[in-house]
Amino acid sequence: MLSTTTGSPVLISGAASGIGRAIALRLATEGRPVALLDRNAEALALAAKEAEREGSPAALALVADVADGAAVRAAVADAVRALGLLGGLASAAGILEPGGLADVTSASWERHFAVNTTGVLHLLQHATAQMSDGGAVVVISSNAARVPRTGLLAYAASKAATSALTRSAGLELAARRIRCNVIEPGSTDTAMQRDLWPDAEVGRASALDGDPSAYRLGIPLGRIADPDDIAGVAAFLLSDAARHVTLQQLFVDGGASL
Ligand SMILES: NC(=O)c1ccc[n+]([C@@H]2O[C@H](COP(=O)([O-])OP(=O)(O)OC[C@H]3O[C@@H](n4cnc5c(N)ncnc54)[C@H](O)[C@@H]3O)[C@@H](O)[C@H]2O)c1
Repeated sequence: MLSTTTGSPVLISGAASGIGRAIALRLATEGRPVALLDRNAEALALAAKEAEREGSPAALALVADVADGAAVRAAVADAVRALGLLGGLASAAGILEPGGLADVTSASWERHFAVNTTGVLHLLQHATAQMSDGGAVVVISSNAARVPRTGLLAYAASKAATSALTRSAGLELAARRIRCNVIEPGSTDTAMQRDLWPDAEVGRASALDGDPSAYRLGIPLGRIADPDDIAGVAAFLLSDAARHVTLQQLFVDGGASL
């Protein structure tokens, strides 16, 4: 039986910037109605305008913090009122604060889990409750969920939990033919990545060529990803072309996780 994703509305979190914004614009070019959710109201409004220019028949801006379950529930209700039952969810909102075993604070640990993990739980619960059977979910996790990285302890742990949470939810949602897949990107050229590199040239070289002192092997394909490299895979997983793909964790990192 075919799924019901084509042409149906998609809710995208983290849609004001980087990978979430690229997913929203990619779906807009496919003519899908989009509900863009982010806590950055100003950038979100610009992204929604851009999505309409790119061809979305309706682009809604929903200001909410994914860590706040009631706010996510209300945002989903607004999306469904304006656009109808959802056909898809793309979860890209996330935070990264550097910190290793010796220096990670409890507050930073809790912030990572509140946004990167509990935030995804809120989206999965509320968006799939308002999703047509046969819909699709894509969660942007990180290759740090499966590849240990120095100085990213809380981030990696929160992303590993997110990947496991998504696949377990997907097993339950399979009964409704809702597919749930996880994308685990590597270094991608966004604000989050640039903030991580105090010296852009050094950071870039260490990501591309590897850094033995940090046990990093480098990126075999020899480039940092553009947000659209991740968005293309997300659009595929949200489409009927992926109608028999579920519960997968897919590295999109140029081979960096070898
Ligand atoms: N850039 C990379 O190299 C990279 C690599 C692996 C995974 N990721 C993941 O990709 C996703 C997108 O990151 P990005 O690189 O595009 O970063 P980004 O900082 O450009 O975008 C993140 C967006 O999420 C929003 N956001 C953050 N916390 C939020 C909250 N509590 N509620 C609502 N919105 C919130 C921000 O306002 C921002 O618009 C994240 O989950 C990140 O962990 C990024």
